[in-house]
Amino acid sequence: MKDTFKILAIESSCDETAAAVVLPGGKVLSNVIHSQIALHAKYGGVVPELASRQHIKSMPYVVDAALRQAGVSAGGLDAVAVTYGPGLSGALLCGVNYAKAFAWGLGIPLIGVNHMVGHICANHITHPELQPPYIALIISGGHTLLVHVCGELDYILLGGTRDDAAGEAFDKVARTLGLGYPGGPQLEELARGGDENAYSFTKPKLDKPLDFSFSGIKTAVINLMQNAKSRGQAINTADVAASFQKRIADFLCDNALAACRGAGSDSLSLCGGVCANGYIRGRMQAMAEKQHIKLYLPEKKYCTDNAAMIGCAAQLYIKNNKIAGMNLNAIPNLGLKTSELN
Ligand code: KG4
Ligand code: ZN
Repeated sequence: MKDTFKILAIESSCDETAAAVVLPGGKVLSNVIHSQIALHAKYGGVVPELASRQHIKSMPYVVDAALRQAGVSAGGLDAVAVTYGPGLSGALLCGVNYAKAFAWGLGIPLIGVNHMVGHICANHITHPELQPPYIALIISGGHTLLVHVCGELDYILLGGTRDDAAGEAFDKVARTLGLGYPGGPQLEELARGGDENAYSFTKPKLDKPLDFSFSGIKTAVINLMQNAKSRGQAINTADVAASFQKRIADFLCDNALAACRGAGSDSLSLCGGVCANGYIRGRMQAMAEKQHIKLYLPEKKYCTDNAAMIGCAAQLYIKNNKIAGMNLNAIPNLGLKTSELN
């Protein structure tokens, strides 16, 4: 691939309409995100139908802004990449169809990218020196997954969540504490003023040691709040937030370390929206330092959903000749397979 190979990447799997132009080697020429937070906030979560409609409205402007900021005309593009799953069906379809039309109109290749591969590749933007093999921990609103990245698009799935994803647990607990949507960042803010040892939420015992389960911790918080309310007791929500956040961080650190030890790896890459959390980043950094593990954290803007990471991932698909046809479809429940090349 030439150094000047320009990919327009499109991401619309949930509530962010995003487009970026990227060059090989994780060079990002533009990274435009139109967040729909304001649209969904009053409902306390993403309303899929509203998300799709807003993607349709925003997409042309977001793509246009990405091209303008990159100083590239549509005719100067070499490929178009798009997230085809996992995500909300209607939301994904907006991006997939837009990308198809764009690639077809320009007569350039179309690349379908798995959103999870995109998250994994976010760290290749911030740390171009990062090379497999390494352990990746994806902590997002939809997924919590420990992966051994053995080579390009070559994965061994080590563990995942049995129930809620880490971000989902943050969002649900935030709602219980009376915070708005999305709850993760607001819970982090509230936790700053709290005592993390005020409550001890127990970590569940699982037969697969690298798996996660967050619903028990979430339910413990909900019960605590409801019991206090029914007894008319005042609760310091900052203490609850800090204790919850600590328990989640303990769980993530323990499993990440066990995965590194089990795979004999000393490189750990964190990605996904929850790794924008400063407390979790700090805890991981402390653990990595103590255990002599090299920790790779994406810049915060590449933790939550964005199209630059999709463009970066697309380069791996292109290198491995995985070009999509015009029959590319959205796959809402797309998983991470051992190889994206099959
Ligand atoms: O990766 P992402 O943007 O979307 C998915 O692919 O799911 O992750 C969104 C999730 C949401 O649950 C959000 O609350 C969480 O990431 N999140 C955070 C923080 N920032 C975003 N969770 C905890 N602390 C944060 N600072
Ligand atoms: Zn995501």
